[in-house]
Formats: sequence, structure tokens, C-alpha cells
Amino acid sequence: MPEPIIYAKDVCKTFIATSVGHTDVRALDNAHLTVEAGEVVVIIGPSGSGKSTFLRTFNMLERPDSGKIIVDGMDLMGDSFNINNLRAEIGMVFQSFNLFPHMTALNNVTLAPSVVRKVSSEEAEETAKYFLQKVGLGDKFYAYPSQLSGGQQQRVAIARSLAMKPKVVLFDEPTSALDPEMIGEVLDVMKQLAREGMTMVVVTHEMGFANQAADKVVFMNQGAVLEVDTPQNFFNNPKNERLKQFLNQIL
Ligand SMILES: Nc1ncnc2c1ncn2[C@@H]1O[C@H](COP(=O)(O)OP(=O)(O)O)[C@@H](O)[C@H]1O
Ligand SMILES: [Mg+2]
Repeated sequence: MPEPIIYAKDVCKTFIATSVGHTDVRALDNAHLTVEAGEVVVIIGPSGSGKSTFLRTFNMLERPDSGKIIVDGMDLMGDSFNINNLRAEIGMVFQSFNLFPHMTALNNVTLAPSVVRKVSSEEAEETAKYFLQKVGLGDKFYAYPSQLSGGQQQRVAIARSLAMKPKVVLFDEPTSALDPEMIGEVLDVMKQLAREGMTMVVVTHEMGFANQAADKVVFMNQGAVLEVDTPQNFFNNPKNERLKQFLNQIL
């Protein structure tokens, strides 16, 4: 049995209130997750349930207070792993695309491989063009973000992430900031990646995507993982009461 790419157990994180009148927030309450190589895992749950925080612990954008997280063999709660190695193995795509506005699509994609992976500029450019073509932007190499639609910018952000040749890509509500007519083109790219065997963890409200693309769907509520199942069981035969309620509200 190969080791999972992501193994998270008993992950806890409390945000301590920093101003008077605010209370501490227990964002993660013994959250757990296992992601095998090639799996597509979709995380759903109400706003504030800890989805983003959980995702961010997998690349140490957020450090848990306690628990165990092993990513690609690296023990993130230990002190002997290298954060740059970790970030090179784990791509992340955010709701806001965070492209550099003064750089072309091509340069946005070549930047990290050049700086972090230290590949030659020729190789970085070749790789960037390959992935921009892959996300359907073969004619936009020299466009600046302001000349691209939201859907196109998000696809550049996905290409940027892929150009690092990560072992897993985390997506945090990648279509939530998009106009409705652009959601499909981004989901199509993600479905294609899924079919090609990319390991993905996706926080989304797109239940169609979860149903079609996920190997398993995870429900989070109040910082805890309450249900993990195949899309089939998850949507047709949910067990947890809170999940049933949630599905009734959104479907
Ligand atoms: N940096 C932070 N400081 C304080 N509280 C935070 C911070 N990030 C998240 N939280 C709180 O932690 C809880 C979980 O947030 P989050 O992980 O963003 O949930 P979700 O992504 O499911 O909407 C929320 O109550 C949120 O307000
Ligand atoms: Mg979130």
C-alpha cells in the first residue's frame, strides 16, 4: 500500500481573539483527511466551517496547534522539513487569482519555476507555453491580466500552479469570484486535470463538479470532518444529520 500524499489526523487550530469583544474561534476541531495519489477530493460545508483553514494547513500557510500532517512523506508538525520543498510539491489555486498585473500570462507562469525550481529560461518558457495551451490559452501568452476575463485569469493561475509540476494541487473556491458564464470553462479544465490523474483537493460549492469529478466528498462543519464518502453515497444516502440539513438547503 503506497503512502497517501496527504495524511491529516486530529488537526486542531484556534484563532485567538486579538481585540476586545471578540472571542477565540476554534477553526479546526480534530479534522482528518487522507488523500491518495491520483485522488480528487472535494470538500464542502457551510461558510466558516474551516474548509480554507484546513486546506491551508496542507502547505503550511496555516500552522495547526496540534495534530499530525504528513504530506508526501514530510512531517509538517516536525521541524526537519523544508518549507520551500513543501510549497514546490503543493500547488494552490485561490478564489482571487493573484496574478502579477505588470506581467504577461507567460511571465506569470514562468516566474516560480525560474525562481524556485531554478530551471533555465528556455525550459521555463517551454513548460509555461505547454500548460497555457493545456488550459486553452494558447493564444494569450503575451496578454496582461487586465486584458483577460476572470475565467481566463483563473486558467492562467491554474497553469501557473501546474508549471511547478506539483504532486497535488489545492483549490480554494476557484470559481467563486467568477461571473456565472465563466465558471464552466474553469471547471472543464479542472475536470480534465482530474481525468488525467492529477491529485486534487477542491473546496467548492459546485455540487455538479463534486458529483462528476470527485473520488470522495468531505463534509466539514464547525471545524470537524463529519462525513467522507463517494459522491454517490454522499449525495444520495448521507448519514450525518447536519449534512442532510445542509444538502436540503443547497440542492
Ligand atoms: N486569520 C484568521 N484570524 C481569525 N479567525 C480566522 C482566521 N481565518 C479564519 N478564521 C475563522 O476561522 C473559522 C473558519 O474559517 P475558514 O477556514 O475560512 O472557513 P471556510 O473556508 O469554511 O469558510 C471562521 O470562523 C473564520 O472566521
Ligand atoms: Mg473558505
